[in-house]
Amino acid sequence: MRHLLDTRSLSRDDALLILDTAEDMSATQQREVKKLPTLRGKTVVNLFYEDSTRTRISFEAAAKRLSADVINFSAKGSSVSKGESLKDTAQTLQAIGADGVVIRHSASGAPARLASSGWIEAGVLNAGDGTHEHPTQALLDAFTMRRRLFGADASRGRDLDGISVVIVGDLAHSRVARSNLWLLTTLGARVTFVAPETLQPYGSRLWPVTVRHSLDEALRADAPDVVMLLRVQTERMHAAFFPNEREYARNWGLDDARFARLPERTLVMHPGPMNRGLEISSAAADSASSTVLEQVANGVSVRMAALYLLLSGEREAKA
Ligand code: NCD
Repeated sequence: MRHLLDTRSLSRDDALLILDTAEDMSATQQREVKKLPTLRGKTVVNLFYEDSTRTRISFEAAAKRLSADVINFSAKGSSVSKGESLKDTAQTLQAIGADGVVIRHSASGAPARLASSGWIEAGVLNAGDGTHEHPTQALLDAFTMRRRLFGADASRGRDLDGISVVIVGDLAHSRVARSNLWLLTTLGARVTFVAPETLQPYGSRLWPVTVRHSLDEALRADAPDVVMLLRVQTERMHAAFFPNEREYARNWGLDDARFARLPERTLVMHPGPMNRGLEISSAAADSASSTVLEQVANGVSVRMAALYLLLSGEREAKA
């Protein structure tokens, strides 16, 4: 593995290697001293052209726990706001000797462009590009499912064969939904997308997914092991996609009444940031079924695994 750009092209073996390595990383995070010397002398640049809290600090914590030097670069306050191109920024990073670049960008395909451009030799990790993919989010979600459903000890080497996952919400704008669909399918899970027609991704009928419009129907028919809620991403909406927030919550939200009807063993997941009261009620978000904070904690282990697998040792000759 030279780069981590998407989950669509990630093989089952590589996905399991990342998840199993994340289990090893997680074990080291229970120790009093959490830092490992693995990436000493390497430089990781966090290149964030879009806002982020969780993902940015998670990558930063992961790189630091592997002893890498971390440079945080946010587009606001940099030459990017003066109109510097991705190419010039990339060449600057090459000149300072970056070994890894973690990039979040509003343009789908920006990380792939960076990886294939020849502008830099660094390994590229996609931290979310437009509405395309967010591979480390899907990996940490799969890691969380595996652990919760099978336990940490029984997780190693296992995929998610036969698991039913219902993903609800703003699918049209969601890179998290896309990355989850590809990874979960590779790992043998069944995936259902639930949203009003206006928020179904274009082309989803050609994908390996059951498409539904009713959350109640999905909860009945698909007997989910996992219900994953997605944030309504108003910043990416340039039109009205549903009548109003009350209507959205009533039809597609995991509200108190729906949550009360869920079997206790059903996991409730959300990548954050949550709109409480819209796509998820506080009772659901703060319940024992919710994995929201575990997802954040597991994110560090999964990103440590990805950085380790991509950046440790001598980098392979340019592909
Ligand atoms: C997601 C993202 O940015 O794609 N959040 C995250 O990485 N934790 C989803 C979102 O913003 O709703």
